[in-house]
Amino acid sequence: MKAIAVTPKQKDSARLVEIDKPNVADVKDGRGVLVEVLRVGACGTDREINNAEYGIAPEGFDFLVLGHENFGRVAEVGESVNELAVGDFVVATVRRPGHSFYDRIGEQDFTTDSEYFERGISRLHGYMAEFYAESADFLIKIPPAIKDVAVLLEPLSIIEKGLKQASDIQERLKIWRPKTAAVLGTGSVGLLTVMALRLRGYEVHGFGRNEREGYLNAELCEAIGATYDSTAEISVQDSTKKYGEYDLIFECTGYSPIVFDAMQSLNENGVLILSSVTGGDKTVEVPSDRINQQFVLGNRAMFGTVNANREHFELGVKDLALCEAMYAGWLARMLTHPVEGLKNYEKVFEILNNAGEYKAIKTYFEVNKI
Ligand code: BGC
Repeated sequence: MKAIAVTPKQKDSARLVEIDKPNVADVKDGRGVLVEVLRVGACGTDREINNAEYGIAPEGFDFLVLGHENFGRVAEVGESVNELAVGDFVVATVRRPGHSFYDRIGEQDFTTDSEYFERGISRLHGYMAEFYAESADFLIKIPPAIKDVAVLLEPLSIIEKGLKQASDIQERLKIWRPKTAAVLGTGSVGLLTVMALRLRGYEVHGFGRNEREGYLNAELCEAIGATYDSTAEISVQDSTKKYGEYDLIFECTGYSPIVFDAMQSLNENGVLILSSVTGGDKTVEVPSDRINQQFVLGNRAMFGTVNANREHFELGVKDLALCEAMYAGWLARMLTHPVEGLKNYEKVFEILNNAGEYKAIKTYFEVNKI
């Protein structure tokens, strides 16, 4: 069968390869599920891997099959799979257990191992292929009503985990009634964050680099009841004069200096969530005494979050369904750049590398018709 692979650490090595079709029997204890891939999203992580900045091949291979944002249909199930049937729609999680204590209790998204296993990213082949086989333990059943937008579930799961951690952390306060939120970055992850926070009733303020005029992402913020401001016109910190300090800030720009701006824009008892994987070596000077004092005197909190577990995917399924019910058609407007067939992988990378020019929000392969 066909798949898209890279040679990790070799720039622009993405190519179409022919590999063996997997088998339900590849998964132990009869728990195997063969999935026909329907859609695979492409994101900054795939771009970085093809740029030789990230990504590791599985042991015994000199290539890595890409793809972690996935959506497919069950083609076959092993004899011990009762929760899924042929024809069901599914999305697979990304990280698989390693060796740490957290991995052993099924919390591999909190692994303390330095070597981690992520399909399409690190040490495991991914989903940019015609089929994949996986244990039912790592598959999330998708209601047919959200099939057309379910390729957004994996990126949404990252946000769900961030928001869940935030509310867990805020249990330190006997009562926390957050009202306002800032979302830094309005790419696909930022827009999904805006959506998740609007569904939770926050007054949401989105921030991006682009000017508001003619920017679809800004229009989508406003269409779901959030504001949009360009950081070229107003800094996040200055925006607090307009909107007040934020109870929650979600950072997903990929631009680390903005974190310090965000730290100074947080309300008392507020929480700042960091989710950008910034691989570079940027350095900035910051007013450290002031920031530290604000954090101490205001009981402010900041944490980082990566990856997601089954429960976060399940929360995401509910939010996708609720969003369709409350803002019908909004999610589909994010699916700006479908590319038909794995063979057109060059087009996918062309769009990913020039997302601004293409005005792309979500670029994805349509591997097979839904
Ligand atoms: C993926 C996560 C993964 C992270 C770090 C992100 O693009 O969505 O599942 O944990 O990259 O590798």
